[in-house]
Amino acid sequence: MREQWSSKTGFVLAAAGSAVGLGNLWKFPYTVGMNGGGAYVALYLLFVLLIGMPLMLAAITFGRKTQLSVFGAYKSISRRWAFVGALAVICGFFILAFYSTVGGWVLYYLQAALRGQLNTIDPAHLEAVFSQLLASPIQLICYQFIFLLITLVIVLGGIRKGIEKASKLMMPALFLLLIIIAVRSLTLEGSMEGIRFLFTPDFSKITPDLAMYAMGQVFFSLSIGMGVMITYGSYLDKKVNLVQSAVMIPLLDTAVALIAALATIPAVFSFGFEAGEGPGMMFITLPAVFASMPFGQVFVILFFVLVLFAALTSSISMLEVAISYFVDEKKFQRKSSAILISIAIFIMGIPASLSLVAKNQLFSIGSLSIFDLYDKLTSNILLTTGAFLLSIFIGWVLKPENAIQEIEASGIHFRLAKVWSALIKYIVPVGVLIILIQSYQEFISALLR
Ligand code: TRP
Repeated sequence: MREQWSSKTGFVLAAAGSAVGLGNLWKFPYTVGMNGGGAYVALYLLFVLLIGMPLMLAAITFGRKTQLSVFGAYKSISRRWAFVGALAVICGFFILAFYSTVGGWVLYYLQAALRGQLNTIDPAHLEAVFSQLLASPIQLICYQFIFLLITLVIVLGGIRKGIEKASKLMMPALFLLLIIIAVRSLTLEGSMEGIRFLFTPDFSKITPDLAMYAMGQVFFSLSIGMGVMITYGSYLDKKVNLVQSAVMIPLLDTAVALIAALATIPAVFSFGFEAGEGPGMMFITLPAVFASMPFGQVFVILFFVLVLFAALTSSISMLEVAISYFVDEKKFQRKSSAILISIAIFIMGIPASLSLVAKNQLFSIGSLSIFDLYDKLTSNILLTTGAFLLSIFIGWVLKPENAIQEIEASGIHFRLAKVWSALIKYIVPVGVLIILIQSYQEFISALLR
């Protein structure tokens, strides 16, 4: 029999654990900064509601109905759709390849926090710490390796024991600590400017590119479009209320992203960092916030422990998708496939790490470093394609009626069934397709530039 989640909260926490990760803590704040703030945030929220939530429900329902992981799930309904599952597995490799780069940075910062090297509010010093890390290929690769190794070890420990137990403790702790940091950040002098930046959208700034980045970020942050939620849904028991879960997970995820932005952006303005800083933002800004609060030296260590944990609950979910493919479809052994996949990801990940050291040299294609290439290829191309295909599949192949039947199998009456059907059949696919066309054009022209 297929292993199942021991409780509903266990599932919601583990799914939220997959969703909440570096996407919320690291990527959301810095992309808000790079994309000019309010308008991006507003679009992000709109997309979570109109596109993220309906797809979340579609994915976990599909998983529970078929009781299979992503590849098998598609194949069991229609052989012709099995390729979507394959796309998902490939996407997992690419995300993890650069996710582990950043996971490695987190490990490095944890080590630096433990040695008390982050105790300053001096922007120049904190920027130097980050650039020193980027200038050191050996360290980058070692830490990336350790991050992947930890991921592997957890995954080999089994689903329930590894993921669920730890999520129950760490997720609430992370939430609490983020609130504390946000409060500190908001009480810094000059923080109001950060609030304005975040919450006063300038709608004239909305461009196709902005919409493309916001939507890619929604999929990335919610772990949608590569079958993680299908796979997790497949471990669910028939009694679980899917609608509630599909609302709770995006709500939690979005709350964490917003609080992370509230912890970071006001401090960026207050300390005089760059809003358009880019991928270093979390690492450069938050230590300054800690340095300016009581017990900051303890909190900064705790913070990087929890970020590491959040990153791991996400990375294990990606590794799990790939493993379940090789185990279910190719009849590989779980252990050996886990190890082989991790090695492959590590090899793919090395150029991602190095591409930031030696920008615009060996490790870039067109105008994109390998790191950016993996990022854009996944968020804007593969996940967006996966999300589009998921909506078409549920809306037109599996059919909403069948999904609704599965949803109502837990004994609930799905009041918004009509609204959801319309969203999944028309609004979501059309909305995503418009963005997708934009993404393909952008991506190809960036490669040729
Ligand atoms: N959502 C995670 C984050 O925000 C990353 C992640 C885990 C992911 N699994 C995924 C992204 C599957 C896309 C698809 O950090």
